[in-house]
Amino acid sequence: MTSAYTGYSDGDVDTNLSDQPTLNDLIDARYSRRTALRGGAGATIAALLGTTLLAACGDDEVTVPVVDAGADRTVAAGTVVTLQGNGASTTSGFVQTSGPPVTLTGTGPTQTFVAPGVAANTQLGFTYSTSTASDAVVITVTPATLAFTAVAKNTNDVVTVPAGYSVTVLTRLGDPIAAGVPAFANNGTDTNYAQRIGDHGDALYYYGLNAAGTRDDNSSTRGLLVQNHENLNVQYLHPNGPSPAPRPEGEVIKEIEAHGVSVVEVRDAGNLRWSYVQDSTYNRRVTPFTLVTFNGPVRGTDYIKTVFSPAGTDGRGTINNCANGHTLGGTNLTCEENWAGYFRRSGDDAQRTPRELTALRRYGVTSGTGNYAWSSAPTTNSGILRWDARATGASALADYRNEPNQFGWVVEIDPYSPTAAPRKRTALGRMGHEGAWLGRLIAGQKVVAYQGDDARREYFYKFVSDANWDPADAQATNRLAVGDKYLDSGTLYVARFNADGTGVWLPLVFGQVPARAAVGTEPAYVFADQADILVNARLAADAVGATPMDRPEWTATNPVNGEIYLTLTNNNATLRPLTGTDAANPRHYNDPRGTTNQFGNPNGHILRLRETGDNNAATTFNWDIYLFGADSAQASAANVNLSGLTADNDFSSPDGLWFARPQNPSGQGLPLLWIQSDDGAFVDRTNNQMLAALPGRVGDGGARTITNTGSTGATAQQATIVGAAATTATLKRFLVGPKECEITGVDTTPDGRTLFVGIQHPGEDGTPAAPSSNWPQSQAGNATGRPRSGVVVVTKDNGGIVGI
Ligand code: FEO
Ligand code: CA
Ligand code: CA
Repeated sequence: MTSAYTGYSDGDVDTNLSDQPTLNDLIDARYSRRTALRGGAGATIAALLGTTLLAACGDDEVTVPVVDAGADRTVAAGTVVTLQGNGASTTSGFVQTSGPPVTLTGTGPTQTFVAPGVAANTQLGFTYSTSTASDAVVITVTPATLAFTAVAKNTNDVVTVPAGYSVTVLTRLGDPIAAGVPAFANNGTDTNYAQRIGDHGDALYYYGLNAAGTRDDNSSTRGLLVQNHENLNVQYLHPNGPSPAPRPEGEVIKEIEAHGVSVVEVRDAGNLRWSYVQDSTYNRRVTPFTLVTFNGPVRGTDYIKTVFSPAGTDGRGTINNCANGHTLGGTNLTCEENWAGYFRRSGDDAQRTPRELTALRRYGVTSGTGNYAWSSAPTTNSGILRWDARATGASALADYRNEPNQFGWVVEIDPYSPTAAPRKRTALGRMGHEGAWLGRLIAGQKVVAYQGDDARREYFYKFVSDANWDPADAQATNRLAVGDKYLDSGTLYVARFNADGTGVWLPLVFGQVPARAAVGTEPAYVFADQADILVNARLAADAVGATPMDRPEWTATNPVNGEIYLTLTNNNATLRPLTGTDAANPRHYNDPRGTTNQFGNPNGHILRLRETGDNNAATTFNWDIYLFGADSAQASAANVNLSGLTADNDFSSPDGLWFARPQNPSGQGLPLLWIQSDDGAFVDRTNNQMLAALPGRVGDGGARTITNTGSTGATAQQATIVGAAATTATLKRFLVGPKECEITGVDTTPDGRTLFVGIQHPGEDGTPAAPSSNWPQSQAGNATGRPRSGVVVVTKDNGGIVGI
């Protein structure tokens, strides 16, 4: 029998008998992983061989069925693995026997799966069976790598992505999102922004739809893109820029409606070719005119009563929507950041109480005109007049003096319910809300939301729900009622970072918060109730001794280990002088931009923390600084470029921050972190950018003492805690945007194969007559026309998972 056989393996028919190993050799070599088997010794041997074996036994020639599950292999996370069985017709095909569970696609002898994300080499075992025998195969999965070539810094007027990737434009400022709305002329004559994509697209999130058009969290071919519209490049919205005050009502309405949030259906036509659906019934604009309701402890209190809402329960719209958050219940959390400047307020001091004046000053509601001078318009439209927040009436019920208190909140929107009024979640506090990102949701534990207050020397907050998370709520059909359950009652905390790498969450609870001490001529601020603390969270945080930070922007939760990352985009020498550093905001140095000195922390850093016991509701934590922005060509390695950045990964002013979704391999094992920049300090080197990172853990570096240098040449020592240095294996530039843009807003489809990125305010310093960018037209080679904010789709040319 060993002298003559015919067989094949992996499709190769091999008839050269003379030099083949013996059957026993093959058995020995493969015995360790072969199972089988039934049908007696002949069948066993046949199965061990992994061939269809024609056994010649004298005159009795029989065909013995055998099976082969294919060769063992090693693949990287995210690889599409094809399992190919050979042998008689299968009964059950492949069955997974070990390793992290994967979903097998296909039936019979050919099945595929996507190699999961892993933290270390991991073996997945499968068995291929026929009616008579089976065979095993082992697939070893290695951790994901940043498997692309770094994009070089550049100042080109296009979006640049790595070789092997493609970029297309999905939505742009002004694109019509309702049937019958004319195409965007892009010459300043367009109107009706309540049915067009708004300006300054910011944070975004993709909500899946199935083929029938209902919610499906795992759909990667059809969904709703929800995007914030933070602000305006107002010069391009009108034929020749904005008219001076008194502003024409039509211009004002256009500018107001270009703010807010858009919900737009998007579809993949196949092969990752995406477009938006102009006439989808899901399409919606939430603008500053949209009716909203107030929820939580501030609802119905005097703080938010106006002539429009004498009961203090309702309001109109949302504004300066910067970053976001999402819930597992399928809703969006849009956040109101730089709202204070939109109000005309100064000149009414005599009609205000000392408490009101302290609160208004602390939030910066001090403008003499309000942004864009909207309330100067000759109009009876109260949706315009309310931007005049001066106390001019007989009482708060007769004017809009409390209108500023209606902004600065987290606002929950149900994208699947186009007519549902958004709800302002007052339990999460009022501030210059960058975003509200949930910590890991664990059954039976509290729901928490991390929140940056983006201004220099503002604070980092955490909200902890009263209710414990019930996973059944994730698929509830009354999605906003789920928000009522978890986001309307709980405890707001603010962070204090200690020098030794520990930290404390300080509760902002009435009765536990002392008066905010007097400042200059301002008297002490004594809190009246919990609503007061939530409306004036900044004053409460002052009172409890929170740590002022270098502009807290986005946070991101590592989906595997629950650690929290926080971008601190920058600070300057005026607000944080050489003597104003601390361990969590440790650097003070110069990064010259051209011939202009920039002292302070112009390049920013990214801090991360681990809650004690990995419990989201913990009141203590450990922290370190994950990354420091720096100009690798200029910065001192000892004192500034503390993360060891190089030309392939240097950056400045981190802002957007987002971990890959855990639904695909890029968000598993060692999850991919996307970092986006909103920079003015490093633009002598490059336009704004997005990097991909594979971060380690809190504590993977160590203590360091640096020497800071101020503008006079004076120096000061500062101890801090630095994470492991970056390498091109752990941090790499993935994308560079067009001229004068900010990169902000990032998500993928659940399968990780389509990346959505927001390109905000290209050409922001130009004029209608001389635009300083022509993006997105320039992406297709047309260097003309006014620039428009937009969303791009980035895909891998081989259809693989983006970034790994
Ligand atoms: Fe709107 Fe803090 O960025
Ligand atoms: Ca520089
Ligand atoms: Ca931002």
